[in-house]
Amino acid sequence: MNAQPAGHPASELEAYWMPFTANRQFKGKPRMLARASGMYYETPEGRKILDGVAGLWCVNAGHGRREITEAVARQLETMDYAPPFQMGHPAAFELANALVRIAPAGLDHVFFTNSGSESVDTALKIALAFHRTKGDAARTRLLGRERGYHGVGFGGISVGGMVANRKVWPAAMIPGVDHLSHTHDIRRNAFSRGLPAHGAELAEDLERLVALHDASTIAAVIVEPIAGSTGVVLPPQGYLKRLRSLCDKYGLLLIFDEVITGFGRTGAPFAAQEFDVMPDIMTCAKGLTNGAIPMGAVLVSKKVYEAFMQGPPGAIELFHGYTYSAHPTACAAGLASLEIYRREQLLTRAKQMAPAFEQAVHSLRGLPHVIDVRNYGLVAGIELDPVAGSPGARAFGVYLECFERGLLIRTTGDIIALSPALIIEPKHIDELIGVLSQALQQG
Ligand SMILES: Cc1ncc(COP(=O)(O)O)c(C=O)c1O
Repeated sequence: MNAQPAGHPASELEAYWMPFTANRQFKGKPRMLARASGMYYETPEGRKILDGVAGLWCVNAGHGRREITEAVARQLETMDYAPPFQMGHPAAFELANALVRIAPAGLDHVFFTNSGSESVDTALKIALAFHRTKGDAARTRLLGRERGYHGVGFGGISVGGMVANRKVWPAAMIPGVDHLSHTHDIRRNAFSRGLPAHGAELAEDLERLVALHDASTIAAVIVEPIAGSTGVVLPPQGYLKRLRSLCDKYGLLLIFDEVITGFGRTGAPFAAQEFDVMPDIMTCAKGLTNGAIPMGAVLVSKKVYEAFMQGPPGAIELFHGYTYSAHPTACAAGLASLEIYRREQLLTRAKQMAPAFEQAVHSLRGLPHVIDVRNYGLVAGIELDPVAGSPGARAFGVYLECFERGLLIRTTGDIIALSPALIIEPKHIDELIGVLSQALQQG
């Protein structure tokens, strides 16, 4: 039987080496998407697929937003490209100002990148250079957290806590990095609704690392307020505040990686606001342009920015940047996206939808192999009991079954992550949970 969809013979699928994909499995039975509108994708054959993950945590205002298309087209016709080094263009400054207006109070300067990974490496470089500008050049250590995901650059995989990276590229890890213990504890927190009750004390692990390395050698701590890519790990109540106060105690910069929590996922524009904890540096990407054009950003506090603005005025203050930093089309997409978020009040909509979403995801409790359900805002994790000797197989089976039934979900190991667009309506929640529950019962 030929499993290829029309127009895609196997030979045509060979050249493209797909990222984070089981290439041979995919090419044996491809899952193609051809069109997208609102909450749905459509396959080349015209089958509708409900998007349960906002593309990849990025299409927060839903697919096919005409305002973004028009803004990008207009920008391309006006000026396709402008060099970002020693030159400016209006949209870059407008977008920086628009971002600062919705950002946590005090994060008032923006450095543009092209992805979450670049934002993370930029943030780490800024943190190291910050201490140097202050004459504190011995602060070279970076602390991440187990089960953290900070993209795929060498900096990001070093501070990240994913075993697959550490196994494959052990020699490529940047030196001087250590990790806090993760906060995932199903034994105490299974089936939590909202932030888990137990585990604030895990922030004290920072004391252990300070005792080991001495604060005078540590530059920064980087964490995701909610870890998404390693399977929706929520911060225990009080944990992030404790981490903030320990960073203050020891003079460490706190970096929040908000690549997935940014732009309304938790019910506030950023998780820092939702959890009322101010980082010194914050990364974002994804929802910044509603996924339409690649772009990321790093926001920093006045304290950080001003530390760099001390040398001779003609000197370049930060020896860093990308050919496509603040690309005009990305800025146009960003401005149009932020305008949609503002007009439709999407950055706080997750708060309104969260009770219905929570109720729906927790209805999966009791289905075969479901060992935990957890949620916050419009994000949920459903953890499954792994098949003995085959980690990830159970959830991947559910992923395939969902796709067959018209639903796109995301899985990491044996954890299913849901992160629908912020425009989701109750009927979509019913459809999403209905299909997922059938797929889980099938497994
Ligand atoms: C927290 C976090 N940081 C960084 C990244 C990397 O972003 P990108 O894939 O745009 O490089 C991701 C991607 O999912 C992420 O979740």
